[in-house]
Amino acid sequence: MLYKTIDFKKHSDVRGDLVPLEIGAEYNGADIPFDVKRCYFISVPTNDNNAIRGRHAHYDLEQVIICMNGSFILDLSDGKGNQKSIKLDRNDVGIYIKDLVWRELKSFSEDCSILVLASQHYNAKDYIHTYSDFLKEVNK
Ligand code: TYD
Repeated sequence: MLYKTIDFKKHSDVRGDLVPLEIGAEYNGADIPFDVKRCYFISVPTNDNNAIRGRHAHYDLEQVIICMNGSFILDLSDGKGNQKSIKLDRNDVGIYIKDLVWRELKSFSEDCSILVLASQHYNAKDYIHTYSDFLKEVNK
């Protein structure tokens, strides 16, 4: 599985939208299918249309990536011929990925902000930084 799309329930009324995220590996009704140990958000400089983030893979990490505002493109590859380019532009959709998926985030709109939920604390050693090292790892 390269990725999974998770549709969150959006509660909309005249006051706006509310999107709850139920979290937990053990919880039956969970939107996020792992216990979240870390979250971070990304905002993108409006003066650099060519900014690319990500460009790495992880050995052991589950993540859900949500576009909170604006839009961007998420490119995913498993290094075995499965690739997908996904436009994210809704805050009621999350993209679930786990270990050994190469990801690149690009083509950000000026108002883009992104929320990422992660299953592990930050660990610089969990990163695979080059695509050639990634290919070596997936073909082991
Ligand atoms: P980086 O991995 O380059 O971001 P992206 O994957 O979006 O391209 O991270 C930028 C900096 O932030 C880098 O110095 C590492 C640091 N960082 C943390 O301290 N904690 C985190 O959870 C993350 C994702 C990054």
